Amino acid sequence: MIMFQGKVAFITGAGSGVGRAAALAFAREGARVAVVDLDSANAQETVHLVQAAGGHAVSVQADVCQAAQMESAVHTTVETFGRLDCAFNNAGVVIDEQGHLMAAVSPEERERIIAMHPIGRLAQAEEVAEAAVWLCSNRASFLCGSIVMVDGGYTVQ
Ligand SMILES: NC(=O)c1ccc[n+]([C@@H]2O[C@H](COP(=O)([O-])OP(=O)(O)OC[C@H]3O[C@@H](n4cnc5c(N)ncnc54)[C@H](O)[C@@H]3O)[C@@H](O)[C@H]2O)c1
Repeated sequence: MIMFQGKVAFITGAGSGVGRAAALAFAREGARVAVVDLDSANAQETVHLVQAAGGHAVSVQADVCQAAQMESAVHTTVETFGRLDCAFNNAGVVIDEQGHLMAAVSPEERERIIAMHPIGRLAQAEEVAEAAVWLCSNRASFLCGSIVMVDGGYTVQ
């Protein structure tokens, strides 16, 4: 049974990485998806990937730091699909403990960060996306006010 038949998901940062993987995962489960990102070309590419897999999506360029743009993005979503059921507020930048952008860390620092995870590797985008799909679904109906760590064991050491 698919989880989001007839429903609409709003995903920020869906032009890349975890957000793109989530757009594909929500669409696979039947959701129509608003692909929201600062980068409109990447957002459009995600829409193409969703459509190529048989799903429905619309790209919306918006900056999550700008309230008016987010309000407009929500309006566009509801105008396009007629409703909005869930949001995955995923957009952001990845930094290390010192505040350096992860894309800029040295290979040695990257190895050190990986070694801090008992599982011995970083996450695949799809592994994080699956948690978001489940949390937004009725299958998580009794989960309320909890934080679910999807961190390869980083916080349980
Ligand atoms: N990848 C990791 O190891 C990791 C670890 C911890 C947390 N996270 C968090 O997970 C989220 C996704 O990470 P990712 O690896 O997929 O990153 P990514 O860089 O691949 O994707 C982030 C997306 O967000 C978009 N974006 C950035 N700022 C935005 C803004 N102001 N408004 C709208 N869109 C914006 C970017 O254009 C990009 O498409 C981020 O919030 C990140 O902080 C990632």
